[in-house]
Amino acid sequence: MGDDIDEGYETIMSSTSSQSCTTWATIQGTLIEPREKETKEQVIAKIDTLYESGVPFFTKNAIRALSNQLKTKTTPGDKIITKDLTGASIEWKSLDWYGVQDTAYEPLSLSYRIRQLDPNSKTKETIPDNLEDTKDRETVAKDFLEKSQAWEESETCQRFKSILSSEVNGHDINKIVGLACGSLALPNNENATNQTALLVTVRNWLKDRDQDADISCYIQDPMNTSVDRKVLADIGFEMIDDPRGWLEIDERSVVLSVAPNVPVKEIIADTARPAVVIWNRVEEEDTKS
Ligand SMILES: C[S@@+](CC[C@H](N)C(=O)[O-])C[C@H]1O[C@@H](n2cnc3c(N)ncnc32)[C@H](O)[C@@H]1O
Repeated sequence: MGDDIDEGYETIMSSTSSQSCTTWATIQGTLIEPREKETKEQVIAKIDTLYESGVPFFTKNAIRALSNQLKTKTTPGDKIITKDLTGASIEWKSLDWYGVQDTAYEPLSLSYRIRQLDPNSKTKETIPDNLEDTKDRETVAKDFLEKSQAWEESETCQRFKSILSSEVNGHDINKIVGLACGSLALPNNENATNQTALLVTVRNWLKDRDQDADISCYIQDPMNTSVDRKVLADIGFEMIDDPRGWLEIDERSVVLSVAPNVPVKEIIADTARPAVVIWNRVEEEDTKS
């Protein structure tokens, strides 16, 4: 927990990664019709039963319905309503988060990033969290170009392209979605640069294969800045906001996600069968110590 940084937001959370310290406000979900109090064990047993019966925890319909409400309910006091896995309605309210209550059966949650508007910007640009470290568009673009050229010339990239030729050739693909790649514009951008360069390789490989086919290319990471948006646009990638990435993924997509801190595998397993996924192997945790 961090300090309040803005009037009116009662509870603020900070999450820190190697790239930035990000400030989030989390919204509380409350059952509209209170249900009988359950013990933790009862809740876990019910969730296990739902899971084993094959009920999808994430669906595109639920994500889309929530996304539509977020677009239209923009007046303070507007109510956002979702239905949990048991069919019960949950109302989401900002301004009074005291821990997640009543939402054990709701896999979706709502939070928003707190940013400061730049008072000198006519176009309402935001001030990045790590202001002193943020680079300008030209520097970021040059850095990306140099590093992606080195990647393109590497043996690893040649091996990657031969895997694409042997494993992906038969797939009909018209979309690339990069999730949680991190920011090119913030410090410690090595992983973001490598993952974005790899996506550019996939796009170029597809364009060679399909004779300049139209491939839609998207990147979703709430860490991304306005400089990222411009640099990504220059290389043909559109920066998109959560939840659009989840809705874009379909059977003609290539998806990349490395070390995300949202449950990407669970969401995709429930919502889509992409042509190609590039992500970390699931490894069993060693619980002995
Ligand atoms: C541990 S970092 C990994 C970054 C990078 N892929 C790497 O390998 O270093 C987790 C990333 O997940 C991103 N993330 C969090 N919520 C996300 C969301 N809803 N959609 C996409 N990315 C998200 C974070 O902003 C962060 O950049």
